[in-house]
Amino acid sequence: MYKYFFLAFFSLSLNYAAYPDPVYSESGMVVSLHHEASSAGIKILQKGGNAIDAAVAVGFALAVTCPENGNLGGGGFMIGATSKGQIFSQDHREKAPTRSTKNMFLDKAGSVIPQMSLTSRASSGVPGTVHGLLTAWKDHGSGNIRLQQLLAPAIKLADKGYVLSKRRADLYNHYKTAFTKNDAAAKIFIKHDESPWKQGDVFVQKDLAKTLKRISKFGISGFYNGTTAKLIIKEMERGNGLISHNDLKAYQSVYREPVIGTFKGLEVISMGPPSSGGLLLIHMLNAIENFPIDTLGWNSTDYIHLLTEIAKRAYADRAEHLGDPDFWNNPRDLFLSKKYAEKRISNLSMESHTPSKEVFSGIYNDNESDETTHYSIVDNDGNAVSVTSTLNQNFGNKHIVAGAGFFLNNEMDDFSIKPGTPNFWGLVGSKANSIEPNKRPLSSMTPTIIMYDGAPIMTIGSPGGSKIITTVLQCILNVFIHDMNIKQAVCAPRIHHQWLPENTVYIEPNGISKDIIKNLQSRGHTIKTYGYMGVANGIIIEDDGLYGGTDCRDETSAIGY
Ligand code: GLY
Repeated sequence: MYKYFFLAFFSLSLNYAAYPDPVYSESGMVVSLHHEASSAGIKILQKGGNAIDAAVAVGFALAVTCPENGNLGGGGFMIGATSKGQIFSQDHREKAPTRSTKNMFLDKAGSVIPQMSLTSRASSGVPGTVHGLLTAWKDHGSGNIRLQQLLAPAIKLADKGYVLSKRRADLYNHYKTAFTKNDAAAKIFIKHDESPWKQGDVFVQKDLAKTLKRISKFGISGFYNGTTAKLIIKEMERGNGLISHNDLKAYQSVYREPVIGTFKGLEVISMGPPSSGGLLLIHMLNAIENFPIDTLGWNSTDYIHLLTEIAKRAYADRAEHLGDPDFWNNPRDLFLSKKYAEKRISNLSMESHTPSKEVFSGIYNDNESDETTHYSIVDNDGNAVSVTSTLNQNFGNKHIVAGAGFFLNNEMDDFSIKPGTPNFWGLVGSKANSIEPNKRPLSSMTPTIIMYDGAPIMTIGSPGGSKIITTVLQCILNVFIHDMNIKQAVCAPRIHHQWLPENTVYIEPNGISKDIIKNLQSRGHTIKTYGYMGVANGIIIEDDGLYGGTDCRDETSAIGY
């Protein structure tokens, strides 16, 4: 079944001690979804680049090796922290085109036009990845690495091709029907003789190589102006796309004030709006501090119940209060306040669930997917970077920009396209996240760095849409409460709850025992097996070196040097 298509590479186990050891390195470390991308990052570190330089090379390489979520046509967020404690957060989230309108995905009767926010060219926001990566390199790179060096691995991988694994071949075969609907996608992603991709096939992307060469030659202009821009506009004209030349020229990534919280003596640095990730993560950690979390066993009934009830309240607040800070006054201080967290859980009972309706009201939707990618790098000097990037769904809206070789995002679906109507991730929203020209849709991406004594000690992040935030939360708790190493922390089975659908706690296949399921049901929870949730990866910085952990749920790669 598709639901289980992205099956764990190793089967997950209740006995998390059985996972392989983390990858160890004395100096630099890269963790990402693909070994060619991690290797591109390592080469940059070896040439004297810092963690930011390496992250940029990894980002471009992922756009080639993992085109389902690595991207040029999407957006994301980056958190950086130097070993000296300087931090920054960068927003390169897509923006709604200037010609977008509040009701653009509704018909005359005010009903949602099915699939339009996901599959039409109008579902694309103005891409931010290229601007974000190159700006970060310019502002925070070491100065030792030239633009051409950053792009070289990606260009080679696109031009000469890379070898498909069985898993990657299966992924491209799985989406064959979707690719047939877009000529440019079919040309690249379906073999000329229509036979299925196989392990060992070399996958070449000549048009993408040309786009990467333009970026290598002209920098940001190589994407937002000139040939690439013209090709994007032509692609818009093939359907009902709204992105204009002016939208592309005007696009800017933005440095935002990182959100900062504390948890048990640690500092938590994460991404603020337009991502909801950091605020919800810190709010949930604040709430957890009010309970004797150290005494609750990992994935025990009390533990899962507590996480669920805390998440319920946090996601209800997300729906109401959060949006693009350039358009909406986010109650940031409230989310970060320990007092507010305490107040929010004042009616939390450990005996029984609180019905979601009593926390807030909303509508049900149920989806299965984990599309987005996360990568982290720590360099020789202990500088850390955590980046999460996405097209929204796998391969975005499945439209390739003809001649340019990259997929377009369908991030407009992350807006609240109609109050009370859930998006692809089942999340509802309010005016805070309604569509407005040039606004950024609310995200759940949660690239995070944990600091201790003013220096980074952990990077963590994950794909998974609405499940990203609870995934990152559980990985942090796994390390700092349950004493897991980073491999165990990212691989251990997870649960998820997001306020709506009512009562539902999602679990992974064989993720919790039947006894615990029964206990949770007796407290009023509905337990539903979802499939695997998130593909987390992270790096722990210890006195003796770096420990990289990549998720057992997918093909992933941690490389040290
Ligand atoms: N597109 C999913 C997210 O940004 O949360």
